[in-house]
Amino acid sequence: MQPTAQRLLLGLLCSAWSCSGFTEESNALNFVQRKVLPRVAPAPNNSTAQSELLSQPWLLHHKYIFACHHKAGVYLLDTLFKMVFYALGAKEGDMGRWIQPCYPFTCLFPEAPLQIWIDLYSAERAQEAREAAGAKGIRVVGIVRDPVSMIVSAYCYHHRGMEPYNAMFYPEGTLLQLGPKEGLKFVAERMLALIENMTSAFEQPVNDTFHLVYEKVAGSSQGFDEQVEEMMSFLFEDHLTSEQHSLLLNVTKFADLNRFPRDSSDSSHMNDEECEEEVSKYVPSLHPELLSRYRSFQERLGYAVT
Ligand SMILES: *[C@@H]1O[C@H](CO)[C@@H](O)[C@H](O)[C@H]1NC(C)=O
Ligand SMILES: *[C@@H]1O[C@H](CO)[C@@H](O)[C@H](O)[C@H]1NC(C)=O
Ligand SMILES: *[C@@H]1O[C@H](CO)[C@@H](O)[C@H](O)[C@H]1NC(C)=O
Ligand SMILES: *[C@@H]1O[C@H](CO)[C@@H](O)[C@H](O)[C@H]1NC(C)=O
Ligand SMILES: *[C@@H]1O[C@H](CO)[C@@H](O)[C@H](O)[C@H]1NC(C)=O
Repeated sequence: MQPTAQRLLLGLLCSAWSCSGFTEESNALNFVQRKVLPRVAPAPNNSTAQSELLSQPWLLHHKYIFACHHKAGVYLLDTLFKMVFYALGAKEGDMGRWIQPCYPFTCLFPEAPLQIWIDLYSAERAQEAREAAGAKGIRVVGIVRDPVSMIVSAYCYHHRGMEPYNAMFYPEGTLLQLGPKEGLKFVAERMLALIENMTSAFEQPVNDTFHLVYEKVAGSSQGFDEQVEEMMSFLFEDHLTSEQHSLLLNVTKFADLNRFPRDSSDSSHMNDEECEEEVSKYVPSLHPELLSRYRSFQERLGYAVT
């Protein structure tokens, strides 16, 4: 790796604030905290840094929002957000963050021109953002995943003890106790509003919003590259120089878990695969009313109904 690319990678994977993200996938978070954080100095911490973006003035033409929901690739989207904008010269204060609920130190720089919004985006919030941006308009990257996979994945993830502090599944420790049938019902109920919001935000194609499809971006490196390429042309049109374009393609590849799997001490995805296969069997046993909500989310988002 070229020294500049390497410095950039280290610098952008983690800055002081982003590592305190409470709702991020803890595996990846631990990886970043242990391996990367000690090696990078925290970036300047003030919100007057917008002027830094003036080196890429077209970045101020729109309000950029990356939107994601729990278990639909939050860590992936957050990593892409940082990689892309740090690589274009953004500073910490240019990059805002809003998480619902707002755990201590997790909501930052609400006025920043570049935003990542976690666990709160909905059709209504999209409309508010559009109105607030006025003539500038918004450019949104939203990551979308099959809603039924999201609840199955959430059960397995929390049942093995990850993110015990996640308020969505309080009281703490509940999911450690519950077996797959009761546990799946519990997460399906707790995530209902969140997934309704994700569905409402992304069911209709809108020309100011790009859908990053979780299944494509996580499924293979080829899918990852195609999605990232499409995302970049949506976001930046023809503003990037060819050097910037190559740099962005190069650094974003580090977010591809097929190319760069976390080492086994950081994650136990194998267990998750077995778990997910097992827990999926209980989907049909969800209460018919609850199940029909999830099937309707799948339909609205264009997924096969399971
Ligand atoms: C990024 O670019 C460097 C230097 O050109 C190269 O050595 C490295 O393999 C590239 N990384 C990826 C992930 O493509
Ligand atoms: C960084 O900014 C946040 C939010 O404005 C503030 O709470 C925090 O104390 C600041 N940290 C430093 C090191 O200045
Ligand atoms: C914010 O950072 C810039 C340089 O990045 C510095 O010139 C300015 O004084 C800082 N402002 C505050 C309020 O710390
Ligand atoms: C869902 O969207 C509504 C309307 O924007 C918002 O008030 C609510 O907080 C959101 N809830 C979740 C869990 O995302
Ligand atoms: C989206 O479509 C509207 C209405 O057709 C149009 O006015 C607007 O310029 C388009 N925006 C983008 C980003 O293409």
